[in-house]
Amino acid sequence: MDNRTVERVKKSLKDCRIGPETIALMMTKNCNLNCLYCRGGRTFFSSSGEDISTQELFDLFKCAADFQVQDINLGGFLGEPFCRKDILEIIREIKRLGLRGTMTTNGSFLNSAVAKMMSDCGWDIMRISLDSADEEIQHALRPAINQKPYFQGIVEFLDTLQQIGSKIRVILNVVISKRNFRSLPGLVNFANRYKNIESLDILKLLNMGLVNYEDLRLNAEEEGEFKSILAALKNEKKLSSQGSWGESPVNGNNGLQNKDEENAGGRCFSGESRCFVNYYILSIDSDGYIMKCPQYQLSIERLNIKKIPLSTLWKNELLQFRQNLSKNAPCYQTCCTILKKENKLISDALS
Ligand SMILES: C[S@@+](CC[C@H](N)C(=O)[O-])C[C@H]1O[C@@H](n2cnc3c(N)ncnc32)[C@H](O)[C@@H]1O
Ligand code: SF4
Ligand code: SF4
Repeated sequence: MDNRTVERVKKSLKDCRIGPETIALMMTKNCNLNCLYCRGGRTFFSSSGEDISTQELFDLFKCAADFQVQDINLGGFLGEPFCRKDILEIIREIKRLGLRGTMTTNGSFLNSAVAKMMSDCGWDIMRISLDSADEEIQHALRPAINQKPYFQGIVEFLDTLQQIGSKIRVILNVVISKRNFRSLPGLVNFANRYKNIESLDILKLLNMGLVNYEDLRLNAEEEGEFKSILAALKNEKKLSSQGSWGESPVNGNNGLQNKDEENAGGRCFSGESRCFVNYYILSIDSDGYIMKCPQYQLSIERLNIKKIPLSTLWKNELLQFRQNLSKNAPCYQTCCTILKKENKLISDALS
């Protein structure tokens, strides 16, 4: 989040006609991988049959473009965007309307042809979930349900971007676990081979009720070893971006929240409880329901963009909802560090 977002939130607090800056869309709950640490892979890989249709999505994008929305962010919560058969049409439509497009993908459908097509239509940002440059580690942590290896397709995609001088910005999402933390230096070397890769976002493994969480999380000794690995990589520019641990791996606490903070849901901004997130990100479920926020992916009953156009929802039902949270968000203490930081920036700008 930058100053433009803060300024935009300040304006939209006074003018409800200003739409969200970003629409975050879950495209489908289907997924073709069964990642060891993901709820998606364990519970949602069969077809739900309720995904928002192509036409409903096109109507949403048109409305978004008319409503000052800037970014469409595909697939960051659950499921794999490329499991939708119409994904390439969707990509083209977003860009035809002049919106900025970001996608989070498991990378298993990527290849040279996809790289050319996405570059030709001007796609902006690809977040690829790559836990290791060691093919075996990647496939062990993030196996395909049909067991087919896909790592080389990601390499082909990146090679093609490089060869054709594509403008697509690539960010790698790297979830750190017992199985891959020692291979991080190899992944940094891999990323350094590609101009398009601008950063590696180191993600902390979240529990989310996983049965195998204890088998995957780093123990105290491994955390110590990982801190040394990060310290040795401190001059690596691509690792210096802010990761989901909330701190720069180079300058901060290496993103490792201490246990008390983790258990308490974070204490760093105690006293603050106002949430402005819904002023700049609107999260929509794959069945069209509006979600409470990007952190709590709970659908809000009755509010579905299949039934009510986005602009109507935004100026009516959702206005009260975001106003209430901007005065007091009861969930604030359980929110993630990054969103808390963003909220703090906005609160400071308002005072
Ligand atoms: C849920 S996936 C959805 C998009 C797509 N299927 C993918 O894998 O990129 C979004 C991101 O969440 C990450 N993720 C999944 N489970 C996680 C967990 N338990 N802790 C931290 N990150 C997780 C994935 O690695 C991925 O980068
Ligand atoms: S590919 Fe993404 S959604 Fe699918 S199981 Fe893995 S992390 Fe979850
Ligand atoms: S404070 Fe609450 S509503 Fe706001 S982003 Fe965090 S969890 Fe969601």
